[in-house]
Amino acid sequence: MARTYYSDDWDRYKMVYNEPHRVLEPLENEIAIVDAALDVLHEDGILPHTKYDHIKMMAHREAVAELFEIPWTAINPRMQRLLYAINAIIQPENMIAAGVFCGNTFISNAGAAVGPGACYTAKQLIGVEIKEEEAARAERNVRRIDPTGVARVVAEDAVDTVTHFAEPIQLLYLDADGDRERGKGIYLDIFEAAYDKMPPGSVILAHNSVNSAGRLKHYLDFVRDPAHCRASVNVIFDGEGLEVSAK
Ligand SMILES: C[S@@+](CC[C@H](N)C(=O)[O-])C[C@H]1O[C@@H](n2cnc3c(N)ncnc32)[C@H](O)[C@@H]1O
Repeated sequence: MARTYYSDDWDRYKMVYNEPHRVLEPLENEIAIVDAALDVLHEDGILPHTKYDHIKMMAHREAVAELFEIPWTAINPRMQRLLYAINAIIQPENMIAAGVFCGNTFISNAGAAVGPGACYTAKQLIGVEIKEEEAARAERNVRRIDPTGVARVVAEDAVDTVTHFAEPIQLLYLDADGDRERGKGIYLDIFEAAYDKMPPGSVILAHNSVNSAGRLKHYLDFVRDPAHCRASVNVIFDGEGLEVSAK
């Protein structure tokens, strides 16, 4: 089953990429919009419930604002909350995030298990970034929030990381923009390399399901085919979008 969740203001909700901490709307609006998306994910059987700790989420947000060096990011407060909530609900033992740039997307996922927003104990949370200098900055950022090393960033091609990962992957976050030929089309290569390691119920998150829908066509066709994923929802509450799929 595949469907789309729209907020009616999705095309008016806009962030400034180099001002990630700017407040864009009253907190209760943000919570209501994200709750509505979580409700759809629950109805379609992707999430077992919709409850997460709002106080811990805000502690996570404050720690990132205080400790992370973020030159720019397309992760706005709604998306940060949605990623945190999905991870807090699914509680993946192992999570891999592909294409993490400065680490903001990665910690939006991993922050449900490390730092002041932690609400469960994870085993391995790996952010993958192919550019060494970006991976080094992301790792520095993550170390400031998670001294334990449960969350860490590696400088690698994400296709190689998932290919060599020896354990089940319960949550895969896709944001790598690939090379000139594939662009964000690399999502499908990464997911195909991870596919057999992802147990039933595992979740795949694909950023830019709206503004990269063209390059993502093959990926989106794949996850929306019930032969591959039992449900997939395109969450549209901003101009970027997040395709949320369950195996
Ligand atoms: C556009 S950035 C993602 C930014 C993120 N959406 C945000 O808002 O913070 C995509 C990143 O993927 C990285 N990347 C591209 N191909 C990759 C690959 N094969 N494996 C890992 N990272 C890759 C790029 O170097 C880049 O830093």
